Amino acid sequence: MGPAQVTKPAHLARTFRLPSSGASSVSRPTSLEEIGVEACERRKTGIGEFDRVLGGGLVPGGLVLVGGDPGIGKSTLLLQALDLLATNDSPALYVTGEESPEQVRLRADRLRITSAKVLVYAETRADAIVAAVEAQPPRALVIDSIQSVFDPSLDSAPGSVSQIREVSARFLYLAKARGVPTLLVGHVTKDGALAGPRVLEHLVDTVLYFERSTGSPYRILRAHKNRFGSTNEIGVFEMRETGLGEVENPSALFLSERPTDAPGSVVIPAMEGTRPILVEVQALVNPTAFGTPRRTCLGFDNNRAALLVAVLEQRAGLQLLGCDVFVNVAGGLELQEPAGDLAVALALASSLAAQPIPTGWLAFGEVGLAGELRSVAQTKLRILEGAKLGFTDAVLPNNAMDGLSSPSEGLRLHPVKTLAEAVDLVLQR
Ligand SMILES: Nc1ncnc2c1ncn2[C@@H]1O[C@H](COP(=O)(O)OP(=O)(O)OP(=O)(O)O)[C@@H](O)[C@H]1O
Ligand SMILES: [Mg+2]
Repeated sequence: MGPAQVTKPAHLARTFRLPSSGASSVSRPTSLEEIGVEACERRKTGIGEFDRVLGGGLVPGGLVLVGGDPGIGKSTLLLQALDLLATNDSPALYVTGEESPEQVRLRADRLRITSAKVLVYAETRADAIVAAVEAQPPRALVIDSIQSVFDPSLDSAPGSVSQIREVSARFLYLAKARGVPTLLVGHVTKDGALAGPRVLEHLVDTVLYFERSTGSPYRILRAHKNRFGSTNEIGVFEMRETGLGEVENPSALFLSERPTDAPGSVVIPAMEGTRPILVEVQALVNPTAFGTPRRTCLGFDNNRAALLVAVLEQRAGLQLLGCDVFVNVAGGLELQEPAGDLAVALALASSLAAQPIPTGWLAFGEVGLAGELRSVAQTKLRILEGAKLGFTDAVLPNNAMDGLSSPSEGLRLHPVKTLAEAVDLVLQR
């Protein structure tokens, strides 16, 4: 059955064939041995950080969803990737539903992309896009954005859940049937999740998120799901006037942003949902001039900070009760999980002692009222993220060492049982 005859692709998507499965028009069960994979060779975008997150490049027929905040650089990244992917024999197609071709051209000029290998198509009707791809299957296809494309035969408005579901299924079918790697740009909601039905994330092969901390020129690309690669990889980019540049040494970037010799700064590998992200915690301790000591926190719970101050005083022998305490999570991030306790407590101790903690160290763990350190989830992932970004040492709860030995992933591990032990260790008391 040819794709041109398809009227209800969402139903027929189950019967799609990869291009390598032979030219036979009859769909039949095939043994694993018989299935050829020659046509499935990865297409590298040539942007190393992007290829790494993809698991080594785009897979023919692969459907990739790229989400991220407005203005973060989704269109920029994908236009750059298309230019590198396209060849003279096989152009790439950039479908723009949000910007005019002139606006895309302006961006291309800024990115110094002037090649004739990238075709721009300003279209929002799914039928027209499918027809264009079928007429000349491109080397890679970008739909910017999936929310802007619609099927006029459906009653619902463009961007609605049913439109997104139906239109995405069509692109899934098209990608698999024609072997075209397809990248869909997806809007995110206010909470940062991909807008549209959750089923969209199940439908596609790969879900990538583009993130940044407020005001920073750096962007992090993460795989949230990847059928063709690990989701532990991250890609780090810098937004420049000429487009997104790769940051080849992310650890240097993170260390450069934080004052290495300043007391009161500790890095924690925090979990954002299922993803680890390195967060810098800063604390400032100052003797109270008059009145009640202040406990002011930005990005961290005030009550939790008050609790940590009491535990530091009672269990680790620090004189904090007569001091104003300020805690800030750098980059405007929120540190909500209990695993942040140890980093905050160590930042307070470091500020009080006016002594920085050693460069390249990070800390995580929950602090109990008895001053004990409690294990937290995803120890391995946190360590991996720290190692990936160039950290050398980690202070963690002894109980979190289950199945781990030091060094792990190149990171020296310092398991500790109590907060007092952790303070002694990092401040070399
Ligand atoms: N001349 C410039 N110099 C440096 N950075 C620029 C310049 N022009 C644009 N930018 C950056 O590019 C970003 C816009 O990139 P892009 O349009 O690719 O984002 P997007 O994620 O596709 O956004 P949207 O969700 O609105 O489609 C701007 O937020 C800005 O950071
Ligand atoms: Mg855009």
